[in-house]
Amino acid sequence: MLIKIPQGWEIPEREATPEATYLNRRQLLAGLGLAGMGGQLIATAATTAAVRQNTEFNTGDRPVTEEWAATGYNNYYEFDAENKENVKNLVGKFNVSPWSVKVSGLVNKPQTFDLDKLVSSVQLEERVCRFRCVEAWAMTVPWSGFPMSALIKMVEPKPEAKFIKFWSVVRPDEMPGVRASRGYHFPYYEGLRMDEAMHPLAFFATGMYGKPIPKQNGAPIRAVLPWKYGYKGAKSIERIEFVAKEPATFWNDLNSGEYGFYSNVNPGKPHPRWSQATEKVLPKMSRQPTLMYNGYEKWVAGLYNGKES
Ligand code: MTE
Repeated sequence: MLIKIPQGWEIPEREATPEATYLNRRQLLAGLGLAGMGGQLIATAATTAAVRQNTEFNTGDRPVTEEWAATGYNNYYEFDAENKENVKNLVGKFNVSPWSVKVSGLVNKPQTFDLDKLVSSVQLEERVCRFRCVEAWAMTVPWSGFPMSALIKMVEPKPEAKFIKFWSVVRPDEMPGVRASRGYHFPYYEGLRMDEAMHPLAFFATGMYGKPIPKQNGAPIRAVLPWKYGYKGAKSIERIEFVAKEPATFWNDLNSGEYGFYSNVNPGKPHPRWSQATEKVLPKMSRQPTLMYNGYEKWVAGLYNGKES
């Protein structure tokens, strides 16, 4: 059966409806299997289950950022390292379909996943999460996708696998910032400790605002780790490796004094060049206090025993 998204409700409603009403309607649509993955639901309709609304991690105190703001102000250095508002204008040539993700390393079942098939084989969910960039801007986004643990279980990590490394795609012909970059060595790469990646808050997003994730936000699949600074979430992931030792990461290699491996949001730990005590909320950039682990302390503090913050 081909599931059709009713024409017309998505953008006008988001622009016109107060947030609470809009979220209720989204929940209703999610229950019907009509919200969440947008176009990807259509593409894989025959096998895709309904998108579950996951409210378990709601922090409840932050309105959802307007879609135009969350999709119009981006860090994606492979396109533009300087102008966040210009990234969306440079993604036209970036081809995100078909897409595959190669998983290798210390696993019993190394494999290359076709993304459409992967998406149709997992329980998709939508969750509203805070997002905090190390540069201090912040937003709240309804992501759709699936927990990292779902993919990890499919490849059966060996006991020696203690960390996971992620690579973003690099395509100079499609990404104008790659050739223009001064000193950045792409592909972008990031990593997590295994227990962090298995934590239910660690998420692969394939959608945002009930639609496929826009290219500028990391299409077709990116990591979302709401208790960490945004740079931990690699965009447009094409390769994942399970390793024994803490992997190198893109920003840590560029400047280890400013960007650590863990990079958990911590208002009490200033960046060497600015305070992290407050954050600027998109789109108005109004200031508010930064929260420990970005508001997710009760879920993730146990991963760190008071260390690695
Ligand atoms: N992934 C890749 N491949 N390239 C990047 O430049 N920027 C990171 C992260 N993932 C980045 C990336 C940073 S610094 C942030 S804050 C977030 O993506 C921004 O995500 P957003 O543009 O969806 O808000």
